[in-house]
Amino acid sequence: MGASGTPPSEHVGAIDRLRESDAWRDVIEGETGRRVRELTRRTPVIEGPSGVLVKAEGLQRTGSFKARGAVAKLATLGPDRGVVTASAGNHGLGVAYAARALGLRATVVVSEMAPDVKRRGIEALGARLLVHGSGYDEAEARARELAGDAVFVSGFDDEHVMLGNGGTTALELSEQVGGLGPGDLVVIPVGGGGLASGIGAVLAGSGARLVGVEPRANRAMHASFEAGAALTSYPEGGPTLAEGLEGAVAERTYEVCREALEGVVLVEEDRIRAAIARAYRELGLILEPSAAVSLAAVWDGLTAADGGRFVCIATGSNIDPDLLDDCLRG
Ligand SMILES: Cc1ncc(COP(=O)(O)O)c(C=O)c1O
Repeated sequence: MGASGTPPSEHVGAIDRLRESDAWRDVIEGETGRRVRELTRRTPVIEGPSGVLVKAEGLQRTGSFKARGAVAKLATLGPDRGVVTASAGNHGLGVAYAARALGLRATVVVSEMAPDVKRRGIEALGARLLVHGSGYDEAEARARELAGDAVFVSGFDDEHVMLGNGGTTALELSEQVGGLGPGDLVVIPVGGGGLASGIGAVLAGSGARLVGVEPRANRAMHASFEAGAALTSYPEGGPTLAEGLEGAVAERTYEVCREALEGVVLVEEDRIRAAIARAYRELGLILEPSAAVSLAAVWDGLTAADGGRFVCIATGSNIDPDLLDDCLRG
């Protein structure tokens, strides 16, 4: 017995819990992971200026890594089910794609901030699209109200989605670069924190350092770290070009990210624009603002240890042509 009279409890951290979950057995070790590999692409790792390695998830099906988590989740539900989700756009595209591939019916609620390219893509994949609210959090509240008998699928607060998105990306990346270890730095855009959580769970114990990136204008994970508690509501968040990173975090993603990330770096809007232009010119990659934050952080001077490698997760390419054009004109 402990001094307080309670049995001594083994401390089980958030990463350990995720690694011991059913979702880990399904997605990382089992059949669901096989479905994700079947229905998504193995995206290339491109070497950029000064050796930075870029995992080009913008070339993923639907234009972002979100197809991975959506397949991982919907594959566990079985066909003919209805699913409802809220999304800044990319998770909605992923769910619409997975629903079509696996025979489910999807409804996606996006906020008024969702770019046209994402709205049109969701409809083209056969999902029902609803537009509600001025930001992600309002769209999510509406989607939860609408769910009824359908399953609400969170874009980040769900173990299958976290491991499908981040876990399968990390496994693939690690294989492609011959393993990640001490000195290596992986730079990850953070919205709700699901991607970073899945990557963190898979790379735990590897010795690789993980850093999150958020736009300064909308930084719920950074603010949660400062507050020492998850901001599961984040009305303070302001507008950012990186609309995919807007909104609150979840208790669960905060707990995992607190263990997995060395910290969260903040980038300014003009640096995001500059990174979009530079990635296009120097890497031949189209990046949406939410993906460009990782390269913006590196090109702003984030440094890896001597001899360590830099890996940026370039998470998506769904940018409206007018905005891309605007960034290229500087
Ligand atoms: C392009 C892009 N990058 C990064 C993220 C952040 O992912 P997460 O919400 O899992 O932190 C998103 C989320 O929608 C996204 O669309």
